[in-house]
Amino acid sequence: MQKKHIKIIIVAGARPNFMKIAPIIKEIKKTNNISYMLVHTGQHYDKNMSETFFKDLSIPSPDFNLCVGSGTHARQTAEIMVRFEDVLLNNKPDLVMVVGDVNSTLGCSIVASKMRIPVAHVEAGLRSFDMSMPEEINRIVTDRISDILFTTCEDANFNLMKEGVDRKNIYFVGNVMIDTLMNFASEAKKSSIHRRLNLSNKKYALVTLHRPSNVDEIESINQILSALQEIQKYTTVVFPIHPRTRQKLAKNKIYKKNIKSSMIFTEPLSYLDFLCLMMRSAFVITDSGGIQEETTVLSIPCLTVRNNTERPVTITCGTNTLVGTSKRKIVAEARKILNNEYNKCGKPMLWDGSSAKRIIKILSRIDYSRFYKR
Ligand code: UD1
Repeated sequence: MQKKHIKIIIVAGARPNFMKIAPIIKEIKKTNNISYMLVHTGQHYDKNMSETFFKDLSIPSPDFNLCVGSGTHARQTAEIMVRFEDVLLNNKPDLVMVVGDVNSTLGCSIVASKMRIPVAHVEAGLRSFDMSMPEEINRIVTDRISDILFTTCEDANFNLMKEGVDRKNIYFVGNVMIDTLMNFASEAKKSSIHRRLNLSNKKYALVTLHRPSNVDEIESINQILSALQEIQKYTTVVFPIHPRTRQKLAKNKIYKKNIKSSMIFTEPLSYLDFLCLMMRSAFVITDSGGIQEETTVLSIPCLTVRNNTERPVTITCGTNTLVGTSKRKIVAEARKILNNEYNKCGKPMLWDGSSAKRIIKILSRIDYSRFYKR
């Protein structure tokens, strides 16, 4: 039997979660049979890793902030679980919604599942098949215990079915991150970031790096920094620095000796400033998952400094190229782009700005009684 009114707890904790929840909350507000409470785990807590995103994307203040902060994976996930359990005990939602693949996603889905509260996972089924990535572990465990799996692409549907997930629990809805990009693209164009950094259209490469496998490994970070040093002979390089990367670079000899003064380094940027920079860049070099997707939709060439991606559709259909971490390969691919030789773009199916609408339509109609019998 279908429930009349559904109370959802939505979880967000780290920077890439915020652009995923924004369009979902916006759609919930238009319904009269779904209400929500927002939990911010506090995994990211710096103003420019969290608060500016709430402001830029008009996300209402969280109902709960668990203020877990940083720590080892076990400590951070454990804190999230202990504090989230209290929220669930006191509020008894009909559904917990988690997004993405961060430690907050994992911790909260485990707690809800053990309390027999149905879990919906937005961005389910992505697989890098690289178990050395903490996110891959988070994705696999979250999907295994989720009841409703919202996917962004057909390969995710296929991955889930291969792992034995019941087809009727998989909903291919497209990409909510792209909903946000489309909702805010015209606002982002008004950003003054180019004036502030003294940049001209298409005359710079934009860089982001934060993965432990790149920035914590001395051999990888040195190869990438040497590549950037070479690339900045051909074009300006702009590098907003993630807090983890800042800590690592502070101790790095190549950075201190050759790079620090020759490239444009900034603090992590707000959503609108970063989107504006991305839209007008010549190309992007990144190890982020979300940026591979955003550049695909924007038709901006993207060099991903990893050996694999859980988002292969950005390569088969989009502008993404995997370049690993060798200086030679990174520089060679950057030069190809500067010579106008790169993957031209198509748009993956259902990355059309209406994914949150689809999610809310499904959640309004779904028969929740099948989950309560578990
Ligand atoms: C996390 C996610 C990663 C995501 C990334 C986006 C996990 C396992 N990883 O990685 O998937 O792509 O967010 O940024 O969940 N720090 C600050 N201020 C902050 C947050 C972090 O200074 O607001 C520093 C702390 O020293 C912290 C380190 O950055 O230890 C790493 O933060 P953490 O949340 O553990 O992982 P990320 O590398 O940000």
